[in-house]
Amino acid sequence: MTAESGDPAAARSVAIIMDGNGRWAAARGLPVAEGHREGARALRRTVEAAIDLGVRSLSVYAFSTENWARPPEEVESIMELLGETIDRELPDLAEQGVRTRFVGRRDRIPEQLRAKMETLEAETASNERLHLWIAFDYGSRSELVEAVRRIVSDGVRAEDVTEQAIAGRLLAPELPDPDLVIRTSGEQRLSNFLLWQSAYSELVFTDTLWPDFGEDGLRAALAEYASRGRRFGAR
Ligand code: FPP
Repeated sequence: MTAESGDPAAARSVAIIMDGNGRWAAARGLPVAEGHREGARALRRTVEAAIDLGVRSLSVYAFSTENWARPPEEVESIMELLGETIDRELPDLAEQGVRTRFVGRRDRIPEQLRAKMETLEAETASNERLHLWIAFDYGSRSELVEAVRRIVSDGVRAEDVTEQAIAGRLLAPELPDPDLVIRTSGEQRLSNFLLWQSAYSELVFTDTLWPDFGEDGLRAALAEYASRGRRFGAR
């Protein structure tokens, strides 16, 4: 059964920490950039599978605020890959009804790439089938610091600081809380990804390295999600 069939146990909002590109490349004696390239192919496969499985919102962690600490040539390869993905892959996905938006800081992204990101967001704004959120130069702590700064600069009184006041000042308030967060490659942590939004998310970890992930992995994670009971703290 898929989410579209109205099954309450189906995950409509899914987030993925795409981990393991480096290990995938190292296992084959390839440069890390090849792992990221294969990771971009896995992303395309996974978005298409998500459409078929009735997922409505998919958020993926492509570049964290901490990833700037990687060697400059690796950072450059990820920037280049994002540009290529916007040029070659995301327009095809747009034809299948995918709306793409980016969540994260924009001020450190090279100008030309930022322009491509904004054009894609504008061009896909009316697509409805699947909302794809690409977290890029994203970190939850920095997002929360920014939200608190906005609360202060908006002059919100202490007694008016509510969950809604914070949620409404996140980088992308429309990004839905994930029902399910998947992390590939066997690591079991959130690494500063959607910390506020995943307060009640189910977590699924798989040993599969991200470049090997696709429809089967997504299907298995959705089945695991469907088997769990969510109570949101209630009995
Ligand atoms: C984690 O693997 C992956 C990243 C830091 C980059 C994610 C990028 C992609 C999946 C490519 C598609 C993204 C774009 C740009 C659209 P890792 O390098 O940390 O793996 P490791 O832990 O095995 O070293």
